[in-house]
Amino acid sequence: MSPAPISRRRALGLAGLGVASIAAGTAGWLATAQNPGGPFHAGASGEALREPQILDARAGRLAVALTAAAGARLAGRDTSALGYNGTSPGPTLRVRPGDDLAVRVTNRLDQPTNLHTHDLQISPLGNSDNPFLRIDPGASFDYLFRIPPDHPAGTHWYHPHHHGTVADQVFGGLAGALLVDRGPELPVTADRVLVVTDTTLDADGRIAAAGPMDRMMGRQGELVLVNGQHQPTIAASTGSMERWRIINGCTSRVLALRLPGQPLAQVALDGAFLPAPASTDRLVLAPGNRTDLLIRPDTAGRFQLTTDGYDRGSTAGMTGMGRRGQTATSPASTLATLTVDGPPRQPPPLPASLPAPTPNTAPITTRRRITFAMGMGTGGGMGPGGMGFTIDGRTFDPRRDDQTVQFGRTEEWTITNLSPLAHPFHLHVWPFTVVADSIGTPPTGTHQGVVLVPAQGWVRLRIPFTANPGRSVYHCHILDHEDAGMMSTINVRA
Ligand code: C2O
Ligand code: CU
Ligand code: CU
Repeated sequence: MSPAPISRRRALGLAGLGVASIAAGTAGWLATAQNPGGPFHAGASGEALREPQILDARAGRLAVALTAAAGARLAGRDTSALGYNGTSPGPTLRVRPGDDLAVRVTNRLDQPTNLHTHDLQISPLGNSDNPFLRIDPGASFDYLFRIPPDHPAGTHWYHPHHHGTVADQVFGGLAGALLVDRGPELPVTADRVLVVTDTTLDADGRIAAAGPMDRMMGRQGELVLVNGQHQPTIAASTGSMERWRIINGCTSRVLALRLPGQPLAQVALDGAFLPAPASTDRLVLAPGNRTDLLIRPDTAGRFQLTTDGYDRGSTAGMTGMGRRGQTATSPASTLATLTVDGPPRQPPPLPASLPAPTPNTAPITTRRRITFAMGMGTGGGMGPGGMGFTIDGRTFDPRRDDQTVQFGRTEEWTITNLSPLAHPFHLHVWPFTVVADSIGTPPTGTHQGVVLVPAQGWVRLRIPFTANPGRSVYHCHILDHEDAGMMSTINVRA
């Protein structure tokens, strides 16, 4: 594959993206999202997939230092994107249930940061997965994440979570994989981590700033990267069975994954095994979602891992938005190419069952309604472009308890989305199952941490609050919306 200049992809991508093209007709709102110094040219496309360095726990403990700073190699070039220890994604952290994960985060950025262990079921208090902490530029902080002995095995990720700077920092490149492993669970020939991120760079390798319209619709990058590489190649042999752990680490982009010519067998979602492998030909991952797939090629060939275009909604018809409105489409693109070599050979059979978490069947004791909304000049403060991003009519206030939950109870939450854009709802620490939604998706009983709430629709969740009391947050995982205030607090009190 030749190193394609991004300018062409950019032209194609933006036609579907809508954000920039329409903003051009909206009094130049989007000026900062353009590349001031001309388009970025990817250095190498088609090179062999590399994986971030794996840091493994030994004797019950993994101690790592992560320095967040500008300067990382992306798409085969040295850039001023953000990295952890100079790489984007940062190192893969691998622990076992019962381990202690000690992370010293050093902030060499020009704005505050912190660290979130997305979907780990651990304490949200103190120096554990506490989203209220702040690490100022130049400062360091010592986290101690204690993984409970009964923590399920799965694929998670880490990223910054300081309110107001999250989208800039994740779009800038700060993300990494975090695996909880119990030892070999599946008889696979390869176990790969694929961290998908997106960003926009200029010709000098600087991250593009986001304009108000980008932040309103949720910024999407012109470059879609896998482990920081542009369209890498994954080499496999016939007769193999590979586990691909795919993390949607994009700021706002929804992935609709396909691998035409290869059946996809999903074995986990958001770090929780399904009861049995589920075959599918397309898998939708909202920002923050992860999936584990088994890939079993039996004949030689080249297969493209792609994302279909995904319609996230449009603001057409919203008061103050004008007749045309803005369309939020995640454009189609190619993520990677699987090249399979060898004579025709049958791969090992799919496992008949998987170590799924035991379903929670406790009676529901409390029902809550949560409402996501966007509005021009409405209450809850003014966000990007004069748009307010609210949950239950309010924007984020870390001092306020928005929900108080009795520890040990199981609740049912109905999340209603009044806006014409889909919003990915995410709750820290306490995984949920989706029991119903407004578009009739059949319930799967699967535990997850992020669910896309359809535009002008709803989802209903069962949430057991049976571990890890403490105070944390739920929010929209379009990180621009989170930064604009679409986040609330929850206090689970013992
Ligand atoms: Cu992945 Cu509160 O975030
Ligand atoms: Cu999270
Ligand atoms: Cu949102």
